[in-house]
Amino acid sequence: MSSERSAIILAAGLGTRMKSTKPKVLHEVLGRTLVGHVLRSVRAIRPERRIVVVGAAADQVRAHLAEVAPEADTVFQDKQLGTGHAVRIAMDANPDLKGTVLVAFGDAPLLRAASIAELVEVHEKKGNAVTVLTAVVDDPTGLGRIVRDNEGNVLRNVEHRDADLTELAIREINSGTFACDADVLREQLDRLSTANDQGEYYLTDIIELAREAGHTVGAVVVDDPTETLGCNDRAQLAELRRILQGRINTELMKSGVTMDDPATTWIDATVKVAPDVLIHPGVQLKGATAVDSGAEIGPDTTLTDTIVGAGAEVVRSHATQAHIGEGAHVGPFAHLRPASKLAERSKIGAFVETKNLEMGAGAKAAHLAYLGDATVGADANIGCGVIVANYDGVKKHHTEIGEGAFLGCDSVLVAPVSVGDGAYVAAGSTIVKDVEPGDLAVARARQAALEDWVARKRPGTVSDKAARRAKGEAGVSEA
Ligand code: UD1
Ligand code: CA
Repeated sequence: MSSERSAIILAAGLGTRMKSTKPKVLHEVLGRTLVGHVLRSVRAIRPERRIVVVGAAADQVRAHLAEVAPEADTVFQDKQLGTGHAVRIAMDANPDLKGTVLVAFGDAPLLRAASIAELVEVHEKKGNAVTVLTAVVDDPTGLGRIVRDNEGNVLRNVEHRDADLTELAIREINSGTFACDADVLREQLDRLSTANDQGEYYLTDIIELAREAGHTVGAVVVDDPTETLGCNDRAQLAELRRILQGRINTELMKSGVTMDDPATTWIDATVKVAPDVLIHPGVQLKGATAVDSGAEIGPDTTLTDTIVGAGAEVVRSHATQAHIGEGAHVGPFAHLRPASKLAERSKIGAFVETKNLEMGAGAKAAHLAYLGDATVGADANIGCGVIVANYDGVKKHHTEIGEGAFLGCDSVLVAPVSVGDGAYVAAGSTIVKDVEPGDLAVARARQAALEDWVARKRPGTVSDKAARRAKGEAGVSEA
């Protein structure tokens, strides 16, 4: 027998009940599409070929596969005439397939890599022609039932709508995942009929057909029945998400991550979190995010494709494609937009927005600032209300702020412009020319006083009375 292995993933259905313009298998669950999860799990058997059967919205599915699984081939199923028909199209398009063929559904993302590996190992070790992955569930409504004889040998699968009363009482169901010998599969697919309630070619019929033809068939029962759950509507999508969340969080907690509230912590399957990270309630970590040890995230924080260094703190903030250095502090209420790079011990505080920023080590923007297209030197201090005016209405320009520079509150730096190392900018300045190292730039109107203006122009007002009291004038009562 050939030791070659391949995987066929069925993803041709539109998923009408999703009520979506997007094909079902492209809906996302914690960092990957449904079909993306399946493609990831089938890696466990190192398939030589991965064949995805596409049909509804095939172009969208193909485009997605080109991105996440360029090694996968697609075959096109024009009309969805049944799971058996879909596999047949895949086999016909690959007439030289040998060895073990794994068939899985593209809308069942919770199937563990380990379960797929076990199915294929048992299948090959026993020399089966067909091995079906099954589960024992509390409510088998709508699913195919596995019929066994008195000795427990698998006889066949019967679909819910074709089952009689005794068969309906069976709680062992077909997950839809099969391991098959390629030659037997090819031979039995030819014999499928549409003599069933739906008038479809059922892949499941190959169990009975192969057995009748004298081949050995078997089943592997998966321990955790939630692995077999598919997705037909948005409520099931949410259920899958909740189950995967539980799995990911449990695994992370076992690896040494503290979560105050796992129920409100949503971490994508693609995210890395080191031991001794502390996660507060209401945190979402997405995409290629990675958090190093000792960091503290949340509450109420969303990080997408963001790197967080050891010991950094991110409180009630939102970041995308940011790099938060070791021991840096972000938030509360900070917005880090793409390409924000904060060096170690730097600080981005309340209501600060950044974009395409390099913040030097120990530099601080503690409150209310916008820093875009800028470089900030080490230990610089960005005062409250500082704005980098990076956009002239047509183009973006760069601003350079030197090491140890001090920007007074409410100043505007009109890019392109630079503030030299150790330079000061007076509060309320609008800087349009470069400031030399060590200089103080003052760019605001000088303060002038119009003496006793209030007494002359606003006599009798509360201001006037207060001023008179302050000057100790007689006859002005305290009240
Ligand atoms: C199928 C199984 C059932 C099993 C259940 C588990 C059959 C006949 N029935 O039922 O025993 O308990 O899954 O969830 O296999 N697809 C195609 N082309 C087709 C038909 C289907 O690509 O022509 C794809 C669908 O897009 C879907 C998957 O195959 O991803 C399953 O098809 P579906 O029609 O949903 O099968 P079920 O009725 O759920
Ligand atoms: Ca289904």
